[in-house]
Amino acid sequence: MTETLVSPAVETADTPATKRLFIKTYGCQMNVYDSERMADVLRPLGYAPTDTPEGADFVILNTCHIREKAAEKVYSELGKLRLMKLDKAASGDGAMTIAVAGCVAQAEGEEIMRRQPAVDLVVGPQAYHQLPELLTRTARARGERIGADFAPDAKFDALSAPRVTTGVTAFLTVQEGCDKFCSFCVVPYTRGAEWSRPVADIVTEARRLADQGVREVTLLGQNVNAYDGIGPDGSPSTLAQLARALADIPGLDRIRYTTSHPNDMSDDLIAAHAELDALMPYLHLPVQSGSDRILRLMNRKHGRAKYIDLIGRIREARPDMAISGDFIVGFPSETDRDFEDTLDLVRTVGYASAFSFMYSPRPGTPASTMGTQVPDDVSRARLHALQALLTEQQVAFNAAQAGRTLDVLFEKVGRHGRQAIGRSPYLQSVHVEDADHLIGRIVPVQILSGAQNSLSGTLSASGVDRPVLQGVRPSSGDALRAER
Ligand code: SAH
Ligand code: SF4
Ligand code: F3S
Repeated sequence: MTETLVSPAVETADTPATKRLFIKTYGCQMNVYDSERMADVLRPLGYAPTDTPEGADFVILNTCHIREKAAEKVYSELGKLRLMKLDKAASGDGAMTIAVAGCVAQAEGEEIMRRQPAVDLVVGPQAYHQLPELLTRTARARGERIGADFAPDAKFDALSAPRVTTGVTAFLTVQEGCDKFCSFCVVPYTRGAEWSRPVADIVTEARRLADQGVREVTLLGQNVNAYDGIGPDGSPSTLAQLARALADIPGLDRIRYTTSHPNDMSDDLIAAHAELDALMPYLHLPVQSGSDRILRLMNRKHGRAKYIDLIGRIREARPDMAISGDFIVGFPSETDRDFEDTLDLVRTVGYASAFSFMYSPRPGTPASTMGTQVPDDVSRARLHALQALLTEQQVAFNAAQAGRTLDVLFEKVGRHGRQAIGRSPYLQSVHVEDADHLIGRIVPVQILSGAQNSLSGTLSASGVDRPVLQGVRPSSGDALRAER
């Protein structure tokens, strides 16, 4: 998955930044959000983010446990950091404190401490608000491991300090944890039970973001559409109700959410897509497999027909909805026939983009001890075949935008001249020349061409902001995209 650095240093007026903080983020967007929050709680202690680990006073690896490769990367990175730590001490430049955070910290904290003595502290995803205190303690003794308990409310209360943001888009965690226990997945063990933040807290955070110029928020949750945070009247609120409350915030023009589970795609959420212009027509709705037999073994708790029917109902409400997904190939006992069912489902749905992975057995999950593991070369061949189909769909979806006018939110300047890069409603990256003055604005763009990973366009009108809503429905079979 992706590796991300936190955004460049932003100092607040009253806190001179004297210490260098380097955070490397692996895994999902929730880790990106958490890394930004960690930088926020450390800022008052004088830590300013830097973009290289060399010479940093504090290094945090915010880790991912989802597949074996993701977890193993952490140990190789720690090996490099150990040498930097020794260099720093030898040059008389003071100590480098090394922390491991995130899902690997939660899942195998003791092992990290055992395998890599250079690590000073290990902190699980629910304990980031304790970082300032942990740092003072590690000055005295190595070996803290914090965060085995799950109490997300304490974390979010303590992290509600104002965020400092410079971008026009932002992630906003609204839900954390998972009760689904898919048989292949570590997330219910690393992130704990499903828990939702109250509506009022989210609205406050979103308002502050909008005041700082954020035009688009992506609401995050491991099962974001299972959101049931306390609403203004004291009863649980749905994700659709939350989206309506956020759509009323002046300046906040676009709302996205990820990741959703098919079983939590309620009628009111589907209806909200027909009703709310701010809710973008792009939905990440992983299905994992197209075979009923495999879906049962995966404990996904729905079959293929239910998923296909759901996609139909979503497209009835919002005909231009771009669908994205996640797939696993080579799940234990998957046959050629099961895999054919997956390809067939992909052809039926038509994806705008998708991520596909080779099954990775994870310690402690039921699937890891199923007797019929699929050989690697078989899984790899299936992955290639699936990715070829998904890429074909993605290319077709992007190419089909040529000649249309799409509203683009410009996010940053491009690499060449006065180029600007933004996002279409369907989350496609759009490159436009002579548009660098439009960063932070939503502007109609005439699309000239679409390649696999981006679109090129030209400013079509006067560059005036206006409500979103153009585009095509990726018709079944000729839609969209592939792999991470
Ligand atoms: N909560 C989300 C996904 C979280 S993990 C959901 O339910 O869809 C992101 C993706 O990683 C999953 O959708 C799945 O496709 C993949 N994944 C999870 N565990 C995996 C494993 N053991 N091997 C391979 N891929 C895995
Ligand atoms: Fe993992 Fe399944 Fe939960 Fe998604 S729904 S986080 S795949 S257990
Ligand atoms: Fe990875 Fe944890 Fe996210 S395992 S995908 S960082 S929830």
